[in-house]
Amino acid sequence: MAFDIDLIKKVYADLPGKVNAAREKLGRPLTLTEKILYSHLHEESPLATYGRGKDYVMFAPDRVAMQDATAQMALLQFMMAGRDKVAVPSTVHCDHLIQAKIGADADLQHAINTSNEVFNFLESVSNKYGIGFWKPGAGIIHQVVLENYAFPGGMMIGTDSHTVNAGGLGMVAIGVGGADAVDVMAGMAWELKNPKLIGVKLTGKLSGWTAPKDVILKVADILTVKGGTGAIVEYFGEGAKSMSCTGKGTICNMGAEIGATTSTFGYDESMDRYLRATGRPDVADAAKEVAAHLTADPECYADPEKYFDQVIEINLSELKPLINGPFTPDLSTSAGSEMTEKATANNWPLDVEWGLIGSCTNSSYEDLSRAASIARQAVDKGLTTKAEFGINPGSEQVRFTTERDGILKTFEDLNAKIFTNACGPCIGQWARYNDPMNAPKNSIIHSFNRNFSKRADGNPNTHAFVASPEMVAAIAISGRLDFNPMTDTLTNDKGEEVMLDEPTGFELPPNGFDVEDRGFNPPAEDGSGVEVVVAPTSDRLQLLTPFVPITQDDMTDMRVLIKVKGKCTTDHISMAGPWLKYRGHLENISENCYTGAINFFNDKPNKVLNYVVNDYVAVPDSAKAYQAKGIGTVVFGEENLGEGSSREHAAMEPRFLGVNAVIVKSFARIHETNLKKQGMLALTFVDKDDYDKVRQDDVVTIKDFDQMAPGKNLTIKLDHHDGTNDEFEVAHTYNAAQIEWVRSGSALNKIREELTN
Ligand code: F3S
Repeated sequence: MAFDIDLIKKVYADLPGKVNAAREKLGRPLTLTEKILYSHLHEESPLATYGRGKDYVMFAPDRVAMQDATAQMALLQFMMAGRDKVAVPSTVHCDHLIQAKIGADADLQHAINTSNEVFNFLESVSNKYGIGFWKPGAGIIHQVVLENYAFPGGMMIGTDSHTVNAGGLGMVAIGVGGADAVDVMAGMAWELKNPKLIGVKLTGKLSGWTAPKDVILKVADILTVKGGTGAIVEYFGEGAKSMSCTGKGTICNMGAEIGATTSTFGYDESMDRYLRATGRPDVADAAKEVAAHLTADPECYADPEKYFDQVIEINLSELKPLINGPFTPDLSTSAGSEMTEKATANNWPLDVEWGLIGSCTNSSYEDLSRAASIARQAVDKGLTTKAEFGINPGSEQVRFTTERDGILKTFEDLNAKIFTNACGPCIGQWARYNDPMNAPKNSIIHSFNRNFSKRADGNPNTHAFVASPEMVAAIAISGRLDFNPMTDTLTNDKGEEVMLDEPTGFELPPNGFDVEDRGFNPPAEDGSGVEVVVAPTSDRLQLLTPFVPITQDDMTDMRVLIKVKGKCTTDHISMAGPWLKYRGHLENISENCYTGAINFFNDKPNKVLNYVVNDYVAVPDSAKAYQAKGIGTVVFGEENLGEGSSREHAAMEPRFLGVNAVIVKSFARIHETNLKKQGMLALTFVDKDDYDKVRQDDVVTIKDFDQMAPGKNLTIKLDHHDGTNDEFEVAHTYNAAQIEWVRSGSALNKIREELTN
């Protein structure tokens, strides 16, 4: 069976006791978020009052989900942990590597032809280590998780930022980097800063042209792309109860666009209906029994200002359809005349070339059925669609059922392209242009979550707007960005002025879901005989070799690899874009190591002085030249080094290329942790002015590395080329266990040692 009912029953059996204990400890009523977090404390974090936005807490999530792009390095690392099986139920979903071009079948076959090696690897590792494998074409990770694994009151992590989608079924589901997934699959605790809480009270009821999408577009407008940072958003109120489970998923999904840690909803009838419709009546029955613990204590919603750090109220009855964009998901404009004014003032193209419906955000049965009700009217009323249509169903179950019910046929009657059940244009996997960088200025509208420049089609001149599926359908039919279906008419093939009626649809398929082949491969009961094949000649995949522990000798007489000037995100350290294809090949992807960072000494990226070849060379080449001579290297940097994504490649690449320490004014926390996990030193200047003492010709020694202890500063000696030297202290935040990671070569080495001893 796809889901683990025994695990869920165990969570529910423990829930009342854990919630009561937390309520007693905190001495007050609890929000839903607190109930889920406190009932998932790892034994390393005892029950205590943790400061919101301050304290780091260790958690024990129930599940892990990985998508194909991020799973590669996560699983390559997991293979080194020395475990026979994953410690918690985990799944892999092949959805990112399928390009939309011709149509579902041809595109799927093309992806299998070009990425078969990666898919086979993911499948065999999954089979061996007890991980459920969802094949290419099975669907988009978050839709599949909602349909099969999410459960009210659960906690999960996933190696994709829209893992948060599962909040629609009452989970605390959080997007993380691959290294975090490895920790949890290997049985370690998972750390998170105790989040702040934002309460969103929904009153009234959606009607007419408004949809759940408009709720989150409105929240994004209010909070902006940074407003949810470090917080969990909890939705409540009568309006919340009136929405479908998949609609709640849409709202939680786009919580990622306001920077929220995650979003969630309290258990209600819509969740019960969804669980039953997706073949999980036993989960629904079990949830019902502990329903009081799957929502906040009533006092929290009665007096939210007292229990949440911030409260927002939205009246759904007053909400109007919104269109957010271009280039940012938090810029809201109302349909119709406001859009005419704004688009004219900003020179946004008013003609719309494509309407795209799908992505993990809006690809449910309800979404497609409501959008199809608009498409059907176009056919029936003799309207010709002005823009092209593309549809990505969220899962094979949704695709099969919508095909059975004639929904896909309706879109096909408008010449829509039905793409594979996969991410497609949402992640730039869309062969729209041969030369996107020189493609013309244009507008598109889609039901996805992100609309950054170039995201969908690689064309910086594409203005992408985000709206509900039903509005995408209406605007695509009209071909006008400022079309307001509530007031505007369209001219049909007889020259008559006609209007589109309000969308109608089905929360769930009236005749139930149906599917012939979900595309799921359960893992082998005993995977010990399964062989994982990675060709030594592959340029996409490479088995990892455990990192060798760094010694005091290695820390002596090192060279400066680069002294980074100014901002240095994980993109500067390990660029994305064309390098995505090497995410499973550490040696190949290391060719982008620090290539985007600016060298302090010449203000140039990827040009650093190397004392072995005595010339300015690319950063990876310099690292390799020192490595070949057995000389360790150090990276120096400024503030918040490693901000941005949580990708572990930004720590693994320098480690692979012989960097022993990264010394900066300050770190982004996740990158600092990633460096620690890879067994290298992440250090900060005690006196930030010491950054100025570093010269490119310095020989660097960390004098007391072999006496490293928690809370004790280390000493750096810089021997300058002119015979002078400088010494200063650097601080670190390693606890005793993390120092052990360094002594073992990496956290994974340490886990393996523990498992084999
Ligand atoms: Fe895929 Fe786009 Fe969602 S890339 S996981 S459909 S945000």
